[in-house]
Amino acid sequence: MVKICCIGAGYVGGPTMAVIALKCPSIEVVVVDISVSRITAWNSDQLPIYEPGLEQVVKQCRGNNLFFSTDVEKHVSEADIIFVSVNTPTKTRGLGAGKAADLTYWESAARMIANVSTSNKIVVEKSTVPVKTAEAIEKILSFNSKGINYQILSNPEFLAEGTAIQDLFNPDRVLIGGRETPEGQRAIQALKDVYAHWVPEDRIITTNLWSAELSKLAANAFLAQRISSVNAMSALCEATGADIAQVADAVGKDTRIGPKFLNASVGFGGSCFQKDILNLIYICECNGLTEVASYWKQVIKVNDYQKNRFVNKVVSSMFNTVSGKKIAVLGFAFKKDTGDTRETPAIDVCKGLLGDKARLSIYDPQVTEDQIQRDLSLNKFDWDHPVHLQPMSPNTVKQVSFVWDAYEATKESHGVCILTEWDEFKSLDFQRIFDNMQKPAFVFDGRNIVDVKKLRDIGFIVYSIGKPLDPWLKGMSA
Ligand code: NAI
Repeated sequence: MVKICCIGAGYVGGPTMAVIALKCPSIEVVVVDISVSRITAWNSDQLPIYEPGLEQVVKQCRGNNLFFSTDVEKHVSEADIIFVSVNTPTKTRGLGAGKAADLTYWESAARMIANVSTSNKIVVEKSTVPVKTAEAIEKILSFNSKGINYQILSNPEFLAEGTAIQDLFNPDRVLIGGRETPEGQRAIQALKDVYAHWVPEDRIITTNLWSAELSKLAANAFLAQRISSVNAMSALCEATGADIAQVADAVGKDTRIGPKFLNASVGFGGSCFQKDILNLIYICECNGLTEVASYWKQVIKVNDYQKNRFVNKVVSSMFNTVSGKKIAVLGFAFKKDTGDTRETPAIDVCKGLLGDKARLSIYDPQVTEDQIQRDLSLNKFDWDHPVHLQPMSPNTVKQVSFVWDAYEATKESHGVCILTEWDEFKSLDFQRIFDNMQKPAFVFDGRNIVDVKKLRDIGFIVYSIGKPLDPWLKGMSA
């Protein structure tokens, strides 16, 4: 029986391995992690991450051919194929701080593999890593090899949170990069055989190692660039009276462009886009490609601009101050159908409003109070380290309250900010919300999900990104 071990039981390691176990009953899959709390949660009824469909998959295989364990060394030493899916945060100190990927966790995983292995291994990069990481890993392994043969493959993950299970069941492509040697090609084939249990062969692409590593960074940069493009256009729509939804629809009808990923919003978030683009920028700079680096930098700058613009719109329309005012925040996750808050635009928007001394009442159907308090008090990039290395009890931000109901959050508030596009926000009773708010009552829709006309008819002053401005907001600086 082929044995797979995955190091890192996070948003990628957990769902990916659960689907491999489900689709390949003849393979034993063990997911290991140094975080005891994460492994305990994977073995319980309360999984550590929320993802539609995940629970059913885990329940079907757990205890049969899918296991979660903290006994990292044992399972690594027994495995034929080792996936490494650990954190690759942005460096906060030293050379490349604020841009380069911090490979501390990757390197320690590689050294541990070298220490405990007694048989040949295929080591698969599942984490997103800088181009040429495989070479570094190869060196660590081969210098400590004790005669063992290691083949390194790059198999970046393209799943999107919120649709991870669907994406894994039916991927657009699976990408496998490896050495162009007979051993390298055999390793590629071994991993191909795993995916071939359910992925059509023409969707499994094989390349050299560096193309696979770079393709992941490039794919995320292209996706984020699309969001920044439509967001940049949304600012121009507000200035001219055009409607971003109509512009995006017209633009997306061109089959060369396509309609997906063209929703204007308060900005992109998630653990990957910013981190991977910063990483790409750093690689460009290291290779002397300053113009290419500054081209990609602009994608992040526009994203920051969009978040700032949103905060400025809120403050300026409420008489240039939100000091002491109650602002309801609906949605904190970086997008719907996930509880993940890493790099969510809600953090920057909330911090911006708190900077102007607002009182916030936050509701998100999948995010806990503890998580929100952490996010609002952690330093930039600290979130991307294993949980046990983060501060135990971060400072409590006192001006923030957390409720489990949208109506409670909005009660007696001066304004409502919609920051995640949860479906339930689309069907809220806005008349009821209006009746219980201070007047004038404002709605700032950061996801373009409300019916602007209907809300204006109720009496709200509405700001919706990229839409013709409410007369109240015209001429206000932001
Ligand atoms: P995560 O933070 O949810 O999970 C990483 C896990 O690795 C943590 O549970 C941590 O405790 C564990 N870990 C760290 N060092 C370890 C070690 N030496 N031994 C055992 N366990 C260790 O991160 P996530 O989101 O799963 O991402 C992992 C990688 O996949 C990152 O490189 C990320 O950029 C990439 N990725 C993430 C996607 C996403 O949507 N979250 C999508 C595609 C790629």
